[in-house]
Amino acid sequence: MAKIHLHVLAAFFILAGAAAAVEFDVEGRVYCDNCRAGFVTNVTEYIEGATVRVECIHFLNQKVEHSVEAVTTAGGFFRVAIPNDHEEEICYVKLVKSSRADCVEIVPNRDQARILLTENSGQTNNVRYANALGFLKDEALPGCAELLKAYALDEEY
Ligand SMILES: *[C@@H]1O[C@H](CO)[C@@H](O)[C@H](O)[C@H]1NC(C)=O
Repeated sequence: MAKIHLHVLAAFFILAGAAAAVEFDVEGRVYCDNCRAGFVTNVTEYIEGATVRVECIHFLNQKVEHSVEAVTTAGGFFRVAIPNDHEEEICYVKLVKSSRADCVEIVPNRDQARILLTENSGQTNNVRYANALGFLKDEALPGCAELLKAYALDEEY
């Protein structure tokens, strides 16, 4: 009796898994790196209306399998729903376009954040938080030198 029960349950989960495709919820934030520091500081401003792209590239043939753009809301937040498991692909969020004329510069390699869009990643839910991505401000704000010095001192401890 108990055995039959387990088989039925197992069959149910296999069917349910096949029918209900996975969907990942990719979330992140875009900021203006107004200290040209390469990281978020306490004077960082977030950019509303910036465009990002979530893209997956297949390991083997380098083909782009999936590419979706999103625009940030107030506070620089974005959220993209990406269907299916992407275990065979490298997925990342990439900066596309800023909405602030004084903050458009992109630093190669710092303009994208890896995300794992597979259920075999050890994460318990399907929300994936990408590292925040920043466009560089044309000129660092006054006061940034002092501020960055304080951050550097902090890191020594
Ligand atoms: C940011 O941090 C620096 C260094 O810790 C501090 O001197 C400064 O007052 C802070 N600025 C704001 C706006 O919180």
